[in-house]
Amino acid sequence: MLWVGLRPQRRVGGLGYWIVPETRGSGLATAAVRLAVPWALEALDLQRLEAWVEPDNLPSQRVLRSAGFHEEGRLRSFLTVAGRPSDALVFSVIRPRH
Ligand SMILES: CC(C)(COP(=O)(O)OP(=O)(O)OC[C@H]1O[C@@H](n2cnc3c(N)ncnc32)[C@H](O)[C@@H]1OP(=O)(O)O)[C@@H](O)C(=O)NCCC(=O)NCCS
Repeated sequence: MLWVGLRPQRRVGGLGYWIVPETRGSGLATAAVRLAVPWALEALDLQRLEAWVEPDNLPSQRVLRSAGFHEEGRLRSFLTVAGRPSDALVFSVIRPRH
């Protein structure tokens, strides 16, 4: 499953994805995110697509990097995971500025 939500900021989208555990490790997330990025930027007319990832989620970080996302920084206690605060790494792709 892959989804793009709209952030409150104009023309900014947020990407999320989830692969069923039985099929993880076979390149599905990488393929899906690579396909989704150009579609989301164009079809939704985004100037920025971002993703928030837990620091220990290394597979997800590899997915994003291989789809052209850049790591921008760390938001402390930004997420709540299983009821506890968790940091988030921020990744993004942007459209070339004219
Ligand atoms: C993160 C997730 C989407 C990855 O899906 P996937 O289909 O297994 O990913 P891929 O098979 O495309 O592999 C992605 C990369 O992670 C690497 N990887 C897999 N398991 C790993 C592990 N335990 N540690 C480090 N890297 C790992 C793969 O080798 C691959 O890297 P490569 O392209 O350099 O070889 C999947 O694990 C998932 O659904 N997790 C739960 C939900 C989630 O975390 N969503 C993302 C929230 S930001």
